[in-house]
Amino acid sequence: MIYFDNAATSWPKPPGVAEAMVRFLEEVGANPGRAAHRRAIEAGRIVYEAREAICELFGAPDPLRVVWCKNVTEALNLALRGLLRPGDHVVTSSMEHNSMMRPLRALEQDEIDLTVVNCSPQGMLDPADVKAAIHPHTRLVALNHASNVVGTLLPVAAVGAICRQHDVLLLVDTAQTGGAYPIDMQADQIDLLGFTGHKSLGGPMGTGGLIVGERVDETQIEPLVRGGTGSRSEHEIQPDFLPDLGESGTPNAVGLAGLLVGVRWVLARGIDTIRAHEVALAQRLIEGLRSIPGVTVHGTLDAELQTATVSFNVIGMASSEVGLRLDDEYAIMCRVGLHCAPAAHKTMGTFPHGSVRFGLGSFNTIDEVDAALAAIATLAQET
Ligand SMILES: Cc1ncc(COP(=O)(O)O)c(C=O)c1O
Repeated sequence: MIYFDNAATSWPKPPGVAEAMVRFLEEVGANPGRAAHRRAIEAGRIVYEAREAICELFGAPDPLRVVWCKNVTEALNLALRGLLRPGDHVVTSSMEHNSMMRPLRALEQDEIDLTVVNCSPQGMLDPADVKAAIHPHTRLVALNHASNVVGTLLPVAAVGAICRQHDVLLLVDTAQTGGAYPIDMQADQIDLLGFTGHKSLGGPMGTGGLIVGERVDETQIEPLVRGGTGSRSEHEIQPDFLPDLGESGTPNAVGLAGLLVGVRWVLARGIDTIRAHEVALAQRLIEGLRSIPGVTVHGTLDAELQTATVSFNVIGMASSEVGLRLDDEYAIMCRVGLHCAPAAHKTMGTFPHGSVRFGLGSFNTIDEVDAALAAIATLAQET
């Protein structure tokens, strides 16, 4: 069995993740931040240590500015819905996932002005185009760090510098890079960083969050949801401080116990080691696919310029058929069709038919890549 769907959700999880979740359920079990007894304190400690681990990984200074969400989709909605007001202008790219694009398109209905900067068919964004799109009402630049369709990395640090020059905030969706590519919120000048726990961070589904940088005035963030936070229990009004303003209701502490182990595994292995392994896998895959007659490979064709997510098509065979046959005949699991990012497919020229996507991860091997290449070569011969 070969799992090449890590761009959707990573599998397997690092050693210890499942055990930490079971331990939480069996030996801790209490509600973090809601009581002062020993079990609640232990639960609170685990949740706080997960904040610290996230900060260490993303170069963020203050664990209390990590707002837990159920995934990056919720985190992006919190940032966008929470901060933007009628009359604000936002710049985004044509490679965004619908997690960014759909809330932005909805906000357009609320009189938020949106500019979508076009990327190249390889998914590359020119920072100069972002700069040219900024005007006096621009409040935010919102970008994914890497495309989920084709893996292309966007130049967030260069855009971060431009944003600082123009006093504009930068929101980055790290769904495809968190835990797989070096990111430093301070060095890259990112003001709001959304992350999701279940991909390269090695955690379970149901975990993610928004890191709110120091340049963001948290009192201006409108919560998505209001309710109990375990703090200021005497007040009927939602707290306006972080992280509580965005963390109403009991958190997914079981999931965060797993995420803590996942992020610690990433930190211990080292992001550079993880990245080097994924570059080697992606390069082998890109070169191998390019050498198969009848296969079109999308994107930069350079593993250094992208994540280990590679999109391609077998000419004359629908991507859905390729995916079905890979699963049925070779036990290779991948994703096919449109990957929740219609704008990206239009940019790449793969709309509406889509592509076959191999999302490689930390636990994949060169042998698996070679086995998949042999399978694709056999399928391509039939067309
Ligand atoms: C770039 C990007 N943004 C956002 C998301 C949404 O992630 P989640 O479903 O964890 O919120 C994904 C998931 O595939 C993604 O790849």
